[in-house]
Amino acid sequence: MRRKRFYVALLALALSALVLAQGRYQIGTPLSEQEVQEWNIRPSILANGVGLPPGQGTVDEGAQVYATHCASCHGATGEGGAFTRLVSEPFPITKEVDSVDFAIGNYWQYATTLFDYTRRAMPFATPGILSNDEVYAVVAYILYQNGIIDGSEPMNAQTLPKVQMPARALLELDPNTQKRFPWIRLP
Ligand code: HEC
Repeated sequence: MRRKRFYVALLALALSALVLAQGRYQIGTPLSEQEVQEWNIRPSILANGVGLPPGQGTVDEGAQVYATHCASCHGATGEGGAFTRLVSEPFPITKEVDSVDFAIGNYWQYATTLFDYTRRAMPFATPGILSNDEVYAVVAYILYQNGIIDGSEPMNAQTLPKVQMPARALLELDPNTQKRFPWIRLP
């Protein structure tokens, strides 16, 4: 019995050595340095802005980026269309707001998350195509459309973390229940 186990182990070892010697499974292509750079977008950006890259963008520039890369899915000005609305009222969410109306202005608690998410995941079919400047710009545009910034200064690693999102209040505890607004149902 012991002997049998020994031979099985030996065979497994020999097989794995063979696979290794053949360059593993002979499938796929190694990533180039450039591709690694393009996809290496960790660590993620923290709420306080740690991890935000250099670069900047204005609301006007963002309007261009938005029209080219986002409007087809999210509506001409963020009101929604084929996909999720990005502009919301009222601020912030109340008990009466339907969960389908949750959006950046009334639900997102940190502007930095908007940068991280957009850079990582949008445009939906081709994430990663926007430069950091373009992401800052389109984030500025979306914040502006939501009535959160006045657009007087460009968004960058210094200004973006300072943006006060109206929905930050959702993180506060309800004074009566000491819970975080238990009536909110996620979409
Ligand atoms: C091809 C359609 C398409 C395009 C183009 C597109 N998106 Fe999206 N977007 C989606 C879909 C679908 C979702 C929902 C994804 C999910 O829930 O996993 C989404 C979700 C989002 C969200 C999260 C909304 C929320 O409150 O949950 C943001 C923010 C966003 N997109 C921003 C952008 C920006 C900025 C651009 C342009 C740079 C863009 N999108 C381009 C399809 C698109």
